[in-house]
Amino acid sequence: MTVTRNTKNVPYYQLGFGAFASLEGMVDARRSPDSPSALFYVDHFFRGGGKAALPLPARGDDLVVFVDTTQEPTVENIDLLSGEAKAFFGAKKPCCVTGIGGGSVLDTAKAVANLLTNPGRARDYQGWELVKNTAVYKIGVPTLAGTGAECSRTCVLVDYSRGLKLGMNSDFTVYDQILLDPALTRSVPRNQFFFTGVDTFMHCFESLRGSYRNVIVDRLSDTAIGLCRDVFLGPGDMQCDDNLEKMMVASYIGGMAAGNTGAVHPISAALSTVLHLPHGKANCCALSVLGDIYPEEHALFMEMKADNGIDLPSGICRNLSDDCYEALYQASIIHEKPLTNALGPDYKTILSKDRLIALFKAM
Ligand SMILES: [Fe+2]
Repeated sequence: MTVTRNTKNVPYYQLGFGAFASLEGMVDARRSPDSPSALFYVDHFFRGGGKAALPLPARGDDLVVFVDTTQEPTVENIDLLSGEAKAFFGAKKPCCVTGIGGGSVLDTAKAVANLLTNPGRARDYQGWELVKNTAVYKIGVPTLAGTGAECSRTCVLVDYSRGLKLGMNSDFTVYDQILLDPALTRSVPRNQFFFTGVDTFMHCFESLRGSYRNVIVDRLSDTAIGLCRDVFLGPGDMQCDDNLEKMMVASYIGGMAAGNTGAVHPISAALSTVLHLPHGKANCCALSVLGDIYPEEHALFMEMKADNGIDLPSGICRNLSDDCYEALYQASIIHEKPLTNALGPDYKTILSKDRLIALFKAM
């Protein structure tokens, strides 16, 4: 067996219904005379009062930014947000950056925390090991489970000008502390819960079916897939409290195994980059036409979808222009590392332009 990459995980986590109450103490413990104020990025779903309100532990001199998650994070938006934070905090950096939300918000907080200690713009750091300085201390609080963003070493950003969806893959991107409170996911709409939750299933089977393997990641993937089966095919409703906790654990464990995706994520990335489809839904559309490559997992996914009464949009890539199909092909095939993992070095022959375009048309 080959030696694995030297791997960093999230150093601290807390799990359980009500864990969110610990956030105030965690933020306050970071405050100091040099850095008295904190920075919060919060999903816009939690803005204002009503049922969605969250008791944020923010003080008057903190910066709270509600993040619009209708679009996935873009490099331009990260530059705007980091510019705003630099102007607000001046020479003093925030004592910590807290991200509260789904994958988009968690990734936004990670990207800004990197840019607060590293010069330049977000697109300068899209790639592997490009971040040079330790980020501002980060706390992640997922309110949606499945992306694994709470424990991954990346923050996925879209650069529409380059047709590129790629994160800042770095040990500095990893959260310093995460708070896993399943109660925060009670208000997630049913379809969104499913589309996001199965992202974990996809990360894990793409890893297990690939050629880049290691024993620990394989075991983590097996465990996370088992939890996904419990949630989506077990006896209870997928959103009962027991399953909310299982889904949160699956996302965390699956996130640690999520480095090596396969054929689903490149096609999904093309759907997001070219057609602006959200990540979870794009994954599902991609897997729905990949029965030839992943027969077992495709069948399992279709069963999960049917069992939970989930509708997937169809015909999303029919009757597009030739330029659009070309853009979808290019935005898929650019992902050399995962496609090689799934299909080997001849991936461009196996996934020819004609075959890929036919797959898009079949969605
Ligand atoms: Fe994913």
